Amino acid sequence: MDFHRFARWFRDSSPYIREHRGKVFVILMPDASLQHDRIENIVKDLALLHVLGVKQVLILETPMDERASRIEAMKKLFARGLPSSRYRNQAIPVIEETYASSTASHQNQGSESSHDQQQKHINRLAQILDEGSIALVAPTIDEAIRNRSYDTTVDDSAAAVAQALGADKLIVFHEPASLVHDANVVNSDLSTDAFQDIIEHQDLGEATAYRMRALLHACRQGVNRGHIVSYENDGALLAELFTADGSGTQISTDDYLTIRRATDTDTDAIFDLMQTDIEEDRLVPRTRDLLSSDLTTIFLAEHDNVPVGCVALYSLSQGMQEIGTLLAAPKHRDRNIGSRLLGRAETEARKRGASHVYVFTKHAVDWFTRHDYLPASLDSLPVDALATYDHGRQSTLLIKELA
Ligand SMILES: CC(C)(COP(=O)(O)OP(=O)(O)OC[C@H]1O[C@@H](n2cnc3c(N)ncnc32)[C@H](O)[C@@H]1OP(=O)(O)O)[C@@H](O)C(=O)NCCC(=O)NCCS
Repeated sequence: MDFHRFARWFRDSSPYIREHRGKVFVILMPDASLQHDRIENIVKDLALLHVLGVKQVLILETPMDERASRIEAMKKLFARGLPSSRYRNQAIPVIEETYASSTASHQNQGSESSHDQQQKHINRLAQILDEGSIALVAPTIDEAIRNRSYDTTVDDSAAAVAQALGADKLIVFHEPASLVHDANVVNSDLSTDAFQDIIEHQDLGEATAYRMRALLHACRQGVNRGHIVSYENDGALLAELFTADGSGTQISTDDYLTIRRATDTDTDAIFDLMQTDIEEDRLVPRTRDLLSSDLTTIFLAEHDNVPVGCVALYSLSQGMQEIGTLLAAPKHRDRNIGSRLLGRAETEARKRGASHVYVFTKHAVDWFTRHDYLPASLDSLPVDALATYDHGRQSTLLIKELA
């Protein structure tokens, strides 16, 4: 086993482990996923999430006549616990809870009595999660909508439960996990507006469109993130939750951030962004002209089309590339923008064939250390890079090996 690679991967996943602990995830499992060959591994991954402190409500889509057997099968899989750990033979607590969905959907409102009934279910679900169990829910189908050509109940139930529990995520197992492949670009990160655009303009089929609209509705009603994850690809759920690039499609709420390459029209915006940190000696001063000639190296982060951060990636040597001009606008700090920009620059460096990235910094040594950058001596740098080093500035050199 390559311990080194394993350790790097594990370290990189630690911020996500911390982020997800204690959060509520509502996971919609279509019948096709419950019957899939990989269901055993999916349940192992869900059990792992449980051990890592994620609170889960699993919404199962089942035909009415198979409902009891599907629930029983899931319980059996969970009862095996996690193999090869101290949790072996220790069942993951799973509690079955009914949730009678009414005609209330993301398209119309239910009656008051059905609302009260649903509130009771929600309270019970919250209690199950607080007691440290996983809730298994297989919504019963209301007569009023039983006759539809596709089963809307489970979609509305998942969205309603996620909303009512204040879930951090609503995850939908689906094939394919990325709805549109546009010129071979996989939509791994979509704003709610972009997601709506796809639902409205792509031919997804009636049932999928309905499901996606329910997911969109939940995101717009306060669920922090929606995710579409493959049930066919082994480990896709873990990759989506614990890696920077993910594996499926993430739908982000309105606090959506885009990161893109800078273009000619961005010079002034980036120049302005840099000024506070230049004045406070955190960044090296740049003239507008120099910046303009360097634009192809810069990635710009925008929030609702407003520039909120940037990072540059310089390729003086292919194997070892330099991160520079990393900043999050003062009003937008501590919102993960710096980390996402850094991740983007590292992904780009990997694509360009680099095995290492390095940075010179005066005031953010601890921040980079948290992202696995290590202090290094100047001898570690390629000759070309050393030639650009400003000795008078007395910055610290930090290097990260890319996994
Ligand atoms: C360094 C910088 C890019 C981080 O961006 P950010 O979007 O605020 O950072 P994130 O949201 O990803 O991370 C926030 C965490 O890092 C910590 N942090 C932020 N700046 C830090 C610093 N300079 N040193 C140590 N920790 C720092 C925050 O306290 C927060 O900690 P928490 O998660 O425990 O609450 C941003 O602070 C910045 O623009 N600094 C000025 C410019 C600069 O120094 N750039 C680096 C030179 S190349």
